[in-house]
Amino acid sequence: MKKLLGVGVFALSVAVAGSALAADGAAIFKTKCAACHGTEGQGTPGMAPAFQGNEFIKKSSVAEISLVVKNGRAGDQKKYKQFPIAMPAQKTMSDEDIKAVVEFEKTLAAKK
Ligand code: HEC
Repeated sequence: MKKLLGVGVFALSVAVAGSALAADGAAIFKTKCAACHGTEGQGTPGMAPAFQGNEFIKKSSVAEISLVVKNGRAGDQKKYKQFPIAMPAQKTMSDEDIKAVVEFEKTLAAKK
């Protein structure tokens, strides 16, 4: 009996950990990124670059892109002079959420 209970508790904790890791990149994108980058990642003129067809997103690793999301890009680090605002650092996002949203961006980049 005791052994069975142990197996049950183990299965339950695996299920909970699994759901916590399955961060929804599309949902995160919608709430935190779409206002600037566009609901379909098409970009916003005068505001933020598109992800659709974006070579940086296509060619860079998830880790490299995650660094940009985490630290943002401002001042001299900015790559796009046509957009006066900075990419805001996402300091409160967990690494799991950043990874999920970057993987979603890669699906947007593949669109064009
Ligand atoms: C306030 C507007 C704004 C929001 C919100 C925003 N971004 Fe950005 N983002 C920008 C701007 C502006 C740039 C261009 C920075 C530059 O000139 O290098 C940028 C650049 C980027 C880049 C680099 C693109 C490239 O081609 O080099 C990535 C990746 C990125 N953003 C991801 C995100 C993600 C993920 C979110 C949501 C968690 C997000 N951004 C939210 C404005 C925003």
